[in-house]
Amino acid sequence: MKAMLFQEEVQYFNRKFSEVIEQKLQECHNEILYDALSYIKDTGGKRLRPIICYLSAEAVGGSREKALSTAIAIELIHNASLVHDDIIDDNHIRRKNPSNPAIYGEKTAVIIGDLLLGLSCEMLARCEMPEVVSLVSNAISDTAMGEYLEFKLRNLQEATEQSYMEVAELKTAATFMASTEAGAMLGGGNEVEIDNLRNYGKSLGIAYQIQDDILDICGETAETGKPVGLDIKNGERTLLVIHALNHSEYTEKEYIKAILSRDREPGSIDIDIDRVRRILVNSGSIDYALRLSEGLVRTAINCIAELEDSEAKQKLQFIADFSVERINNYVSNAVI
Ligand code: FPP
Ligand code: MG
Repeated sequence: MKAMLFQEEVQYFNRKFSEVIEQKLQECHNEILYDALSYIKDTGGKRLRPIICYLSAEAVGGSREKALSTAIAIELIHNASLVHDDIIDDNHIRRKNPSNPAIYGEKTAVIIGDLLLGLSCEMLARCEMPEVVSLVSNAISDTAMGEYLEFKLRNLQEATEQSYMEVAELKTAATFMASTEAGAMLGGGNEVEIDNLRNYGKSLGIAYQIQDDILDICGETAETGKPVGLDIKNGERTLLVIHALNHSEYTEKEYIKAILSRDREPGSIDIDIDRVRRILVNSGSIDYALRLSEGLVRTAINCIAELEDSEAKQKLQFIADFSVERINNYVSNAVI
């Protein structure tokens, strides 16, 4: 029942999003922009950020319509960042489709990301609240900074759980936080409500990044729409890897280190994703990451406990709960 309510929200947002994109498509005489807009309209996504944005407005007694242009702006920012991320990560599949760089080449994909970012600014301006424009703009910088720090960490042997958390907060949670904070502000929430919703977004965003890292190794391309094991192949210091390096046997640790090692020649080591998955299971790293993300989801739910009861609040609680359920299903299928 609750899952259906969430699906209705996804459909609602997709309708509104499509209206804006269709409008742009009609005005558009530029081939690349046309392709970029068609791509994001047709390939979908979970739409979590925009949905938690307008639900936050409703949860403080405001209207979702007031938050809609900002919600769309944040979804566009997220999509722009994924286009650029697919270049950086050399990712050829996104949302079960060829990624933008795979279709258009890297140089055009940089421009596509920029075009989406430009459109997001136009949408953001429609909220007519400079404080909201400012906080969402900061989230763009934080996201980019998170990506940069992550990239730098790939070259360091000693990534720590703390450095991972910093990256996750910037790279992923920044847009979650901006969504809920902006939504609460646009909904006319008071300071405490805005604070609580921002903290909900922060904990949910970090939890979500941890879940995404688990999915990278436990998911199936057919379901996640992404290649399996891309993080490890790219030398990413995910929470799983950081934990495994501290909790596995010498040979296994050396195997992970060899894969992560930046100076290896391409093709010098055979990356066996099943073996990596077994190491992560046996070292308790997947379990550890699952528990940590579950704890963060509980924190997120507690952050909004004091909000007055409403359907929007229940949906926000459900979205957090559902993320845990979803990841648990993937993991139980993968490790059986
Ligand atoms: C996906 O993470 C990537 C992000 C959440 C942010 C990427 C940010 C940039 C490329 C900087 C540019 C920023 C803007 C706003 C244009 P992931 O690689 O962990 O997830 P994935 O498995 O879905 O690729
Ligand atoms: Mg990526």
